[in-house]
Amino acid sequence: MSGQPKIVVAASLPELVEIAAAHIRAAATAAVTARGRFRISLAGGSTPRALYPTLVAGVDWTRAKVFFGDERAVPPSDPKSNYRMVRETLLDPARVSPANVVRWRAEDPDLDAAARDYEAALRDGATAPWLDLALLGLGPDGHTASLFPGTSALAEADRLAVAVDVAEMGTRRLTLTYPALCGAREVCFLVTGREKAAALATVVESGHLPAARIVRRSEPVTIFCDRDAASALTTGFLKK
Ligand code: 6PG
Repeated sequence: MSGQPKIVVAASLPELVEIAAAHIRAAATAAVTARGRFRISLAGGSTPRALYPTLVAGVDWTRAKVFFGDERAVPPSDPKSNYRMVRETLLDPARVSPANVVRWRAEDPDLDAAARDYEAALRDGATAPWLDLALLGLGPDGHTASLFPGTSALAEADRLAVAVDVAEMGTRRLTLTYPALCGAREVCFLVTGREKAAALATVVESGHLPAARIVRRSEPVTIFCDRDAASALTTGFLKK
């Protein structure tokens, strides 16, 4: 059964960041109150990056376990590393203990082994749902995390994490899969810019493109977007 996401349209990036941060803080508090911990996966990309400084305060990071939705095949010090970006914008400023952060071993020449180890870390001491909240971005081609169109990762039905060849980028990536992301208690997307408008409309309204399977799941999904990204949505889907 497919559901309909809640779509929140903000007038500016600062407003979007404030609204999304308030939502995530509330989710963290609720998870800690209910289960004593908050398991979140974070996203790479420019839109999520703008959010992270706002999350430094207001989340009890001592109770959090931080995962990453995907990673580029680079060492953690590389400027392209999602881990590095999140460390600089959130983890270091918030003094999150390294024991509470699970990064992909993306520098390992054996990325399949790195993916298997990431899955083991996600399962360690936990039961499904593996994540309280999965935070995701959206690419203009409809990819999310590193679930790109036409890739083998889209067919993965069992494993929670895989290494994948992304031909359109001529590279390999590590990514959580549909079983992990569709199975999160809650999913939040951050989407900005007119170049995402067509992809967002397709994902929400037609159910095509990789992100659609997550966006249209029946459990809670919230899409935080700006007016540009929302500009191709038809009014029936745009409730604000
Ligand atoms: C990554 C991602 C990816 C990203 C989207 C949106 O590339 O590392 O995790 O899924 O979130 O491509 O990125 P932008 O916000 O930069 O467009």
